[in-house]
Amino acid sequence: MRNLVFATGNSHKLQEVQGLFKEGFALSCLKDVNITEEIPETADNLVDNALQKAWYVYKKCGIPCFADDTGLEVEALNGAPGVYSARYAGEQKDSRLNMLLLLKNMTGKENRNARFRTIIAYIDENAQEHIFEGEIRGKIIENMAGENGFGYDPIFVPEGYDKTFAQLSSEIKNTISHRARAMEKFLSYINSK
Ligand code: IMP
Repeated sequence: MRNLVFATGNSHKLQEVQGLFKEGFALSCLKDVNITEEIPETADNLVDNALQKAWYVYKKCGIPCFADDTGLEVEALNGAPGVYSARYAGEQKDSRLNMLLLLKNMTGKENRNARFRTIIAYIDENAQEHIFEGEIRGKIIENMAGENGFGYDPIFVPEGYDKTFAQLSSEIKNTISHRARAMEKFLSYINSK
């Protein structure tokens, strides 16, 4: 068995990725390796934040580890909220308040283009760093729609679809999403090793 820790406390994400690993991998989450404190995420970009999380966990438990960091980048807002997506409307990290602030800041903007970008940082058994990236482009709509998913899903319509991520099934989202695309690259790398 190859042990691997996913540095996340987010049960949505754990569920999303758990099924992607082939037999032969034993995936643990933070709780399984007794990390219950919040991991610092103090960098000003997604790559350094993902590396910061992965190294934190690797140094604590010595097991190969991966961490992800995602941002929603809106063209008309010069890439905001970006690395600050979780706490756009404040430290309470409230998705609804984040969306309301984003919609307010988008009032009157004609350019609704946006993308989700995910970085996965992986520290392998030789303490070497690897970075994988996935993105999905789409548009920010004017009102929230849909109940599925989390975060900004109710206001993001992916390219090629006419529904928000929150209206699409989790099967579809998990096939086309930023995280799915970054995970695909990560999985193809570790499966080749
Ligand atoms: P994280 O780095 O994956 O924790 O993502 C940071 C923030 O981006 C989250 O708190 C959400 O607000 C947003 N986010 C990340 N992934 C998604 C997604 O798949 N859908 C909607 N919002 C997301």
